[in-house]
Amino acid sequence: MTGLDALLHEERAFPPAADVAARAHVDAARLEALVAEAEADPEAFWAARAREELVWDREPTEVLDDADAPFYRWFSDGALNASVQCLDRHLPERADQVAIAWEAEDGAVRRLTYGDLHEQVCRFAGVLRGRGVARGDRVVLYLPMVPEVVVAMLACARLGAPHSVVFAGFSAQSLADRIQDTGARLVVTADGGYRNGKVVPLKQSVDEALASCPDVADVVVLRRTGEDVPMAEGRDAWWHDLESDPGLAPVTDAESMGAEDPLFVLYTSGSTGKPKGIVHGTAGYMLWARLSTRWVFDLQDDDVYWCTADVGWVTGHTYLTYGPLANGATVVMYEGGPTYPQPDRFWDVVEKHKVTVLYTAPTAIRALMRAGDDWPARHDLSSLRILGTVGEPINPEAWMWYHRVIGGGRCPIVDTWWQTETGGILLSPLPGATTLRPGSCGPALPGLAPAVVDEQGRPVQGDEGGYLVFTRPWPSMLRGVWGDTERYRQTYWGLFDGRFYVAGDTARRDAAGDHWILGRFDDVLNVSGHRIGTMEVESALVSHPAVAEAAVVGAPHEVKGEAIHAFVVLRGEATEADLRAHVAKEIGKTARPEAIVFAEALPKTRSGKIMRRILRAVARGEEITQDTSTLEDPAVVEALRAAPVA
Ligand code: WT7
Repeated sequence: MTGLDALLHEERAFPPAADVAARAHVDAARLEALVAEAEADPEAFWAARAREELVWDREPTEVLDDADAPFYRWFSDGALNASVQCLDRHLPERADQVAIAWEAEDGAVRRLTYGDLHEQVCRFAGVLRGRGVARGDRVVLYLPMVPEVVVAMLACARLGAPHSVVFAGFSAQSLADRIQDTGARLVVTADGGYRNGKVVPLKQSVDEALASCPDVADVVVLRRTGEDVPMAEGRDAWWHDLESDPGLAPVTDAESMGAEDPLFVLYTSGSTGKPKGIVHGTAGYMLWARLSTRWVFDLQDDDVYWCTADVGWVTGHTYLTYGPLANGATVVMYEGGPTYPQPDRFWDVVEKHKVTVLYTAPTAIRALMRAGDDWPARHDLSSLRILGTVGEPINPEAWMWYHRVIGGGRCPIVDTWWQTETGGILLSPLPGATTLRPGSCGPALPGLAPAVVDEQGRPVQGDEGGYLVFTRPWPSMLRGVWGDTERYRQTYWGLFDGRFYVAGDTARRDAAGDHWILGRFDDVLNVSGHRIGTMEVESALVSHPAVAEAAVVGAPHEVKGEAIHAFVVLRGEATEADLRAHVAKEIGKTARPEAIVFAEALPKTRSGKIMRRILRAVARGEEITQDTSTLEDPAVVEALRAAPVA
């Protein structure tokens, strides 16, 4: 097998503006110095960062322990607590500073200072301890996007009890699977949550799930909607009752945890098999959560930082909770749907809270772009300073829209590449240091060692694409798959005999050292012997002004081996012939789709990723046998089957 063809050649470049670089934590010279320091002696580099960034109960003398590779351990004789990094270390200095500015879906606002948050976390940790939760016990959190979900996460961390947050949009069955897999004894939930004006009946799902989880003895229920919900005698208790109990002993002294003790387990659905419980540790994770947040978003004391991700995803862990709070930032948190009640809700929140740093996903950006420029035009977005994106490749057209219409042409965009497994961002531009290229997720951050390799594990030549791997372990990497050590070894280290961490993505690296993600390697197309990533063809389609979204997959073809089938959501007028001609002009004839299906929507996961395996089945006229439980909207699949093939 040869490398992947590189088809897309993006010429636009945006060097860092002088004023951005001047106030940045990291400018080009500093970035170069940090990279040089890390490459000269990676362990010394990480040891120095761990000393500077974390508040230790016991400073580590060990740095990297690779005796049991790929089960790497970092700072393993150190002791600390993650909630102390987010709360206690900021007190009393930041006691009156807003930690969380929460916007409810109905527009109500609640502000919690660092003092408030600390108090609530200590109290809720007392509640959990009172229900018997101790170090090492797993606690499942099934909560809406309210400040209490952050309180609950930090309370678990304070006790050294790993939390497992389950996205509130998941079904009772998914919840039950995760409760059983973690072996949790206690679940924290709410009577319900609000999403797009409707009540999500969380407590009802918990009751259903617990029918198959006999080990759960305790359910703590937060009152959010005030709906009437049944409370099981002896098992269920209201959060507010437990919290206001006069006998409650707040946990002011956080548990001193080992650096390698698990902080949380978060499930990520692979393309095959059951979801994997990704385990993260304490010190390495917290180190990178704090440092990467500061570097990538150039976080300053006067910033108002908003990450739109749900806490049910890793982005909501690292860049809504642990990273910004470890930096003492002011965080905006929003409860509801991005286009509720109208497609300008995001822009309304930005204006109202004077957001300076906005971090969101390409799927949201494309949806908001599709809604039209009038919506952002109604709002004053001049507070914005830095924009970020994560979750999928952002096609250059959407990047340019985000830059021009939302950022007013003045805000750097950080396209951040990472995974649930990596714990934090590994590839990204830095606002004050990197020349931005639309569609590229930039260089490696200092200390990280990516490579693009062929099937034998040799670096690919020149501009070719290949497997994205990391040649050294790093502190925030996953510590394993909960309950399945072999799956960890196989999935992440199996492909190249343990030499590299294998991300599962394909990428190319250009002469400037910037990375371009081409897609997942399971999705690579093979057309007449040309190996093509999904990303470039999709980008070429979306660069047509009438196209809002596109996804491509391969289907068997007698002559070409595989032919490209495209699924396109339009925002204007275009015919199949127009789009085929456009792709040929943009990236070449080989990549021209054989067939195009015009659709109203694409099948996506709840976190906004296109589910290409479902599209593959549609393109091949096969029965959909795969699991569709993670689909955002199952009706989309039926509509696709009925859609006329152009
Ligand atoms: C996969 C990881 C990491 C937080 C949210 C997703 C894709 C992520 C980018 C980006 C291109 C990206 C990759 C990766 N991805 N960020 N900036 N450019 N692709 O976490 O659910 O674990 O997914 O998302 O394919 O492997 P996740």
